[in-house]
Amino acid sequence: MASVSGKGLFISIEGPDGAGKTTQARILLEKLKSMGLQALLTREPGGTSIGEEVRKILLNPYFQEMTVSCEAFLYCAARSQLVSQVIRPSLEKGIIVISDRFVDSSIVYQGYAGGENLEMIRELNLWATGGLKPDKTFLLDLQAKKGLQRLEGKNKKEGSPGKDRMEQKDPGFHSRVREGFLQLARRDPQRFQLIDAEKPPEEVHQCIWEQVKSLLRDKKIAIIYE
Ligand code: TYD
Repeated sequence: MASVSGKGLFISIEGPDGAGKTTQARILLEKLKSMGLQALLTREPGGTSIGEEVRKILLNPYFQEMTVSCEAFLYCAARSQLVSQVIRPSLEKGIIVISDRFVDSSIVYQGYAGGENLEMIRELNLWATGGLKPDKTFLLDLQAKKGLQRLEGKNKKEGSPGKDRMEQKDPGFHSRVREGFLQLARRDPQRFQLIDAEKPPEEVHQCIWEQVKSLLRDKKIAIIYE
């Protein structure tokens, strides 16, 4: 199976919890759509009926006994379904796919931070995705502590029930997540674009948009004059 995005464009947005990925993914989606381009947004874990069920298990704070390898398999199971059911068919039709997290999250959360063998996680994901890689990955970077503070503020404001199982992990875990992402970005500067997530959302969006415009041009999807 092809590892490239074919006619479409595949963008992932990554970062520690509370970095603002979901907000940025939504703004980008709306921008692309407002220009008449075909785009869809998906999220991990989730994005399919099966994946959303797996998400409930993964994030349920009640399952404190879950092992890291169990996590790795479940994230991969949801991803495998998402790639086959949604991402690949969309890319083949020339649709722009934005994914709120992808394989890099497993390498970082279960590998760098969780302590599972990195090679095993890479192999498992190769199987789950058929080697599909994003054309571009935006890494929204901020200090782990700040991300968690933002989440606490958001949970309070929205009256949500509190932290999910992953957010409840200790501060050391979240610092390793940030470091893990930075290491991945250093190793693959072609694919990763590092973005300072402490900037206001509109500025973060502008950084992303500048890059997306050139990707659209390079892949001959659209030329945008602004
Ligand atoms: P996310 O959807 O970003 O959380 P939220 O919408 O609540 O901000 O991701 C859910 C959690 O799952 C997040 O803590 C990161 C974690 N995660 C992994 O540990 N491994 C993975 O492969 C993925 C995709 C996410």
